[in-house]
Amino acid sequence: AKASSELFAPSNIALCKYWGKRDRSFNLPVNASLSVSLDYLGTHTRLTPIDAEVDEVWLNGQQLLPSAKFSQKVSAFIDLFRRQQDLYFRVETRNNIPTAAGLASSASGFAALTLALNDALGLDLEPQLLSVLARHGSGSACRSVFDGFVEWRMGQREDGLDSHGIALDAEWPDLCIGLAKVDAGEKAVDSRSGMQRTVETAHLYQSWPLQAAADLEKLHQAIARQDFELLGQTAEQNALSMHATMIASWPPLLYWQPESVAAMQTVWTLRRHGVPVYFTMDAGPNLKLLFEQQCRDEVLRHFPDLETVEPFGSR
Ligand code: DP6
Repeated sequence: AKASSELFAPSNIALCKYWGKRDRSFNLPVNASLSVSLDYLGTHTRLTPIDAEVDEVWLNGQQLLPSAKFSQKVSAFIDLFRRQQDLYFRVETRNNIPTAAGLASSASGFAALTLALNDALGLDLEPQLLSVLARHGSGSACRSVFDGFVEWRMGQREDGLDSHGIALDAEWPDLCIGLAKVDAGEKAVDSRSGMQRTVETAHLYQSWPLQAAADLEKLHQAIARQDFELLGQTAEQNALSMHATMIASWPPLLYWQPESVAAMQTVWTLRRHGVPVYFTMDAGPNLKLLFEQQCRDEVLRHFPDLETVEPFGSR
């Protein structure tokens, strides 16, 4: 093994959500999903081989204890590549996701770690296989291996080799994503246990695969025709449908805070006034706004603290 160069993977926002697994040990999804990668927001990772019996894990410039939850997750993932060799690394991870944005970093984190391992071990793997491997760390990480719009094909195989991201050959130069942070009073249930609870306890979940399949189709149409209203409507309805299944779980999973609902109402008011802005939400209280460049000022007037990204801006 050699030292890897510093590898980057972006965060991604799902427009059609991954919610529910058909296989938990391999993170194989019940439904296909579709996301957009956040350009320069994500994780940088560098690996250096070290003469030691345990990985040395650094996060944002600070060395963590081997017993820290983050170190354990990183080492368990590297174990997939270690085979019989006693091969340990200094793992330096830097997230440039603004803490104010309230975005999870596991998708970009596992994607960047996969790219760095590919480099350090000289594996020279195809992007699709890198996506399969990243998926083992966290399902949504398989989409963060690519830029732009990415579909995660659910696949059929038990070994998961056909369950990976595919980059769509499409751009949307005016597309903006706004990260609207809502402070959560309490620590939320993470996606992994949240989706398991939903699958196991919500009868409403039975309708989710149909909703997701229909939405995926609409998103492909919206992207092909550059139809922003169709894109936004579909993403918003998909997110609310996913949240409906969460609320119908037991114990109930309600990720919304009063401020989340207030932000939804602001979005709906803006739409009533003719401003095409939509939102999506993941397993947390924050909204991710979808709008086009020409509405940016109007949206920022109502969401002054919004962090904005143009996924296709720098191309
Ligand atoms: C709501 O990928 O974090 O953000 O596979 O258990 O690691 P694991 O789950 P994770 O779930 C993400 C769920 C979501 C929707 C999405 O990003 O598609």
